[in-house]
Order: sequence, then C-alpha cells, then structure tokens
Amino acid sequence: MTHTIDPDIVNTTGLGEIRRGAERVSVDDKAMINARADVNQLLPLKYSWAWEKYLAACANHWMPTEVAMQADIALWKSPDGLTEDERLMVKRNLGFFATAESLVANNLVLAVYRHLTNPECRQYLLRQAFEEAVHTHTFQYICTSLGLDEGELFNAYREVPSIADKDAWALQYTRNLEDPGFRTNTPEAAQAFLRDLIAFYVVFEGMWFYTGFAQILSLGRRNKMVGIAEQYQYILRDESIHLNFGIDCINQIKLENPHLWTPEFAAEVRGMLVEACELEVAYARDTMPRGMLGLSAQLCEQYMHFITDRRAQQIGLDPIFGETENPFPWMAEAMDLRKEKNFFETRVTEYQTGGSLDWD
Ligand SMILES: [Fe+2]
Ligand SMILES: [Fe+2]
Repeated sequence: MTHTIDPDIVNTTGLGEIRRGAERVSVDDKAMINARADVNQLLPLKYSWAWEKYLAACANHWMPTEVAMQADIALWKSPDGLTEDERLMVKRNLGFFATAESLVANNLVLAVYRHLTNPECRQYLLRQAFEEAVHTHTFQYICTSLGLDEGELFNAYREVPSIADKDAWALQYTRNLEDPGFRTNTPEAAQAFLRDLIAFYVVFEGMWFYTGFAQILSLGRRNKMVGIAEQYQYILRDESIHLNFGIDCINQIKLENPHLWTPEFAAEVRGMLVEACELEVAYARDTMPRGMLGLSAQLCEQYMHFITDRRAQQIGLDPIFGETENPFPWMAEAMDLRKEKNFFETRVTEYQTGGSLDWD
C-alpha cells in the first residue's frame, strides 16, 4: 500500500521528514501563512509582537483556586442575597462562558494552530490554549463552589436559544476548515482562514465576552459576587491579550497578502460584525429582561455598538454605528484601554519596552 503525502502539508505542520542538510532559516522566509521556513525553529524571530505577548501572558499567570469564594457562597445561598433578575443574569452569563472557553480552545488547537505557520505565533497559541484551560477551570470552580446545577451551566449552550445562536454562528466558520486536507494556499481558502480568525478573535473574544465582563464586573462594583468578579478581571486581562494577538495576526496576514482584503471581502467582514452585534443584543435581552445594577439591555446594545466600532477600526474598517459614547466608562478603566492597544496601533512603544503588562 502506498501513501501519497503532500509535501506542503508536511511542511506547514512541522512534523514532516527532516530535511537533512537543508539551509538555515532566513527571517525573510518566515510568514504568517504558507511559510517556506521550518516551523520548528523559533529563532531568528520575525514577529516580536507575538513573542512579547507570550512573555506578557506568562507574567500574568493565575489560577482560579487562588481566589476565595466564601463571600460569594454566603451571598448566593442567602435567600435575599441577590434578586431573581440578578440570579438569572449570573446563571446565563456563566452558562455562556462555561462552554465558550472550550469552543475557543478547540478552534485554537484544531483549526488555527495548524495553519498559522510561524513558530513565535505558535508559541503564543500554546500559551493561550493553556489560558483557555484555566478559564474553563474557573467555571468548574465557580460551579462546584456555589453548588450550581452542572447540566444547567454546561448544557446552557444547547438550551438557551440566544447562547446557541451565538455559538452556532461562530462554529460555521470553524467548519469551513474542517476538511483535514484544508490548506490556505488559495485566496479563497486563505479568506476562509481569515473569517475564522475574525469570528473567534474579534467577535467571540473581542465582542461577545465584553457584555459578560460588564455584567459581572457591575455586580462586583456593588460588592456582590466579589470572588467571581475578581476571576473575571483576570480573565478580562488574559482575553484582552488574546484579542490583540488575533488583531495583530489578521493585520499581519493582510500586510503580507494584500490581495486577500478585497472590497468585497471587507464588506463581508463588516456584515459579519453587524450580525455578531445583533446576536449579542439578543443575548443581552435574554439575560437581562429588566434593568438592574445600572445595566439594561438597551445600554448593553449601546456598549456593543461602541465595541463593534472599535473592533472594526482595529482591523482597518470604518466605524459601523458611529457610536462614540461608551455607556460603561468604568469598563474602559477595568481594561485600561491604553494598554489594550495592539501592535499596529502602538508600533514600537508598549509591547517592546516591558516584558509584562502592569494591570494593578
Ligand atoms: Fe478564555
Ligand atoms: Fe481567549
């Protein structure tokens, strides 16, 4: 029996035959996708922004079990500790995140990793994958600490329609890459890969997570569920680097392959952001049928417009909604927008000066 192996596929995974005596890696041969350089050789570095994010992420190490949950447990178990609306919001919020972290992780290791043919980017992806495991661990820890119904939380993405709608939307972009023979070596295929990066990094981690952060942090600001709120702050710190890594990847791929970013493709990406925003607004209505804690579905809609415009701008698109006012300025403080900036906005400064981001 003979096996035919596509030498290009072998080359991009890094697991092919060793080419004995082949030339040393030239930095100019390194590329985000379809690289000719050996993906097993980290040095010489080409993308310092990827390496700096790897170092920053390592410096931010945390574990959910380091956060005390006693106050949250007491409040959750006390009959008048939280209103029914607050309880619904917390359960739907946790229900979204409990599987969202796994969906992101699975897309990362099963779809993105294989096609990003650069070792310093892969080094960051390995760190990010671990962080997604830490985030999933957080929801396991919250679930057991509060004694929540495991099925209600972890099956929410198949039971709560607005959560199912969001996840189904993102998954269609992973499925484009599902064929084991999928390669990024045609413009159409490379665009499919870009769509996946946009759906997961820009939309999932960069837009949808943010309503969730705002909800829990607004509880924390009122001294409620302070343990969960602290964990969400750590997750937010991790996610803002994930988002900015994704944005840097998208912009670098654009830079190296300008033929992919046609006016039609840019229009399609704008359409994706509009759809994603609508899905999030529906989710906000589902989680908060009535206003509370200075939050309402309407304010979340305005916030999502603000965030969507910022994400559009970060990948080189014009604003979609023109919503300039952030209704939750305290979220900007929590994120520290100055440090949230990505390589393409900061160029030489931020990420090249210090190894770690100081969030305290
Ligand atoms: Fe995460
Ligand atoms: Fe993430």
